[in-house]
Amino acid sequence: MRSLLLAVAWPVATAVPSVTLSNGVEMPMVAAGSWQYNSSTAYSSITSALKAGFTMIDTALDYHNQDGVGKAIAESGIPREKIFVETKVPGCGLDPSTMNVFNCYQATKRDLETDLKLLNLSYVDLVIVHFPPISSMITRSCNSWSGGCQMVRAQWKAMNEFYAEGKARAIGVSNYCPSCYDCLESSNPVMTRLPMVNQVQLHLGMGTDPEGFVSYHKAKGIQLQAYSVLGNSMTHHASSEILNGNLTTSIGKAHNKSSVQVALKWVISQGIPAVTKSSSSEHLKEDLDLWSWNLTTQDKQLMDAHRSPKGSPSFACNAAEAVLV
Ligand SMILES: NC(=O)c1ccc[n+]([C@@H]2O[C@H](COP(=O)([O-])OP(=O)(O)OC[C@H]3O[C@@H](n4cnc5c(N)ncnc54)[C@H](OP(=O)(O)O)[C@@H]3O)[C@@H](O)[C@H]2O)c1
Ligand SMILES: *[C@@H]1O[C@H](CO)[C@@H](O)[C@H](O)[C@H]1NC(C)=O
Ligand SMILES: *[C@@H]1O[C@H](CO)[C@@H](O)[C@H](O)[C@H]1NC(C)=O
Ligand SMILES: *[C@@H]1O[C@H](CO)[C@@H](O)[C@H](O)[C@H]1NC(C)=O
Ligand SMILES: *[C@@H]1O[C@H](CO)[C@@H](O)[C@H](O)[C@H]1NC(C)=O
Ligand SMILES: *[C@@H]1O[C@H](CO)[C@@H](O)[C@H](O)[C@H]1NC(C)=O
Repeated sequence: MRSLLLAVAWPVATAVPSVTLSNGVEMPMVAAGSWQYNSSTAYSSITSALKAGFTMIDTALDYHNQDGVGKAIAESGIPREKIFVETKVPGCGLDPSTMNVFNCYQATKRDLETDLKLLNLSYVDLVIVHFPPISSMITRSCNSWSGGCQMVRAQWKAMNEFYAEGKARAIGVSNYCPSCYDCLESSNPVMTRLPMVNQVQLHLGMGTDPEGFVSYHKAKGIQLQAYSVLGNSMTHHASSEILNGNLTTSIGKAHNKSSVQVALKWVISQGIPAVTKSSSSEHLKEDLDLWSWNLTTQDKQLMDAHRSPKGSPSFACNAAEAVLV
């Protein structure tokens, strides 16, 4: 009787595996995101995620919901050190007054402290620069004019100081391009500490090495982390190709898993941690049931070769950049 009960119980969420960042910090393979959620939706979604067994949360200053995220963490009753909290500071230039090296540095210092205040935390586990300086979104590279490089360095200096003060266990970037790292490596003195993480768009349909990003970052020792893993880009929904497409649903059927679980599994089985999000606690539970089963070699081959939905790792980079360097 006892074993029967165990067999039909909801599978106990096994501890979420992790990757080791270049500074030795362990980062979970799956995080609950909060983009496009206001504070109250972020509060309820993150509360459900923590109940479901999520050990990592992703938010950002620009999401304007860190108070809700912080409240969910505080009220969860989970010890602080058991939750990996990731947040972001904007890239310089979004606020035009920061399109200036000195202001960029000062604004980054200020924004880092604001993150802590809004989250009501004394430290975060990872903080990342949300995107390259706005200049790169026009030129589609960081180093095509010297001002862009200077801002990359100014922000990275502020990030390093925050890290040295023990206010973040790890620091990184998002939507960064190879040309942005060139700015750090060509500086005088050279900024030897490279970002530990680059959070970029990665999902089924983009192949296993889109624009050379996966191989490039592996060679540099920078951990990629996938966002919009279900193909949401501005739509507020998972891509219908991933939700209802033949490939994900037919593979799911064979494993008694949902299409979404198949799409998430494809990303993490490449060793790439994923950030997804949901407002439904049932969906959040599903999104963590990724370790009791495996895709077959044939499933992987079909998914590796699939070319829809389309996507690019970063909206700020020249698509040819990664393969050129
Ligand atoms: N650094 C950046 O520039 C950047 C950019 C984009 C995103 N991000 C981060 O990455 C996170 C995830 O990306 P995203 O927000 O674009 O979303 P996504 O993970 O690609 O897709 C989220 C959508 O998938 C649905 N979903 C989730 N689990 C499901 C399930 N088991 N079954 C059916 N539907 C499911 C959710 O709908 P329901 O609510 O109906 O479940 C939600 O609307 C963001 O929240 C944010 O933290 C970062
Ligand atoms: C937050 O978003 C939810 C869902 O979209 C909405 O119902 C609610 O009214 C919003 N709350 C505020 C304070 O704007
Ligand atoms: C901030 O966190 C502390 C615990 O560290 C808690 O007592 C307090 O209520 C929190 N404040 C808010 C506004 O959530
Ligand atoms: C659906 O996908 C499966 C692979 O999982 C494939 O064998 C089958 O031919 C596909 N069907 C259609 C109609 O594309
Ligand atoms: C299929 O998965 C569902 C939900 O996880 C579960 O309730 C059901 O028992 C599973 N069926 C089989 C045949 O394993
Ligand atoms: C899935 O694959 C991993 C790595 O190849 C292996 O360690 C694990 O035992 C497999 N799990 C199942 C349920 O087959």
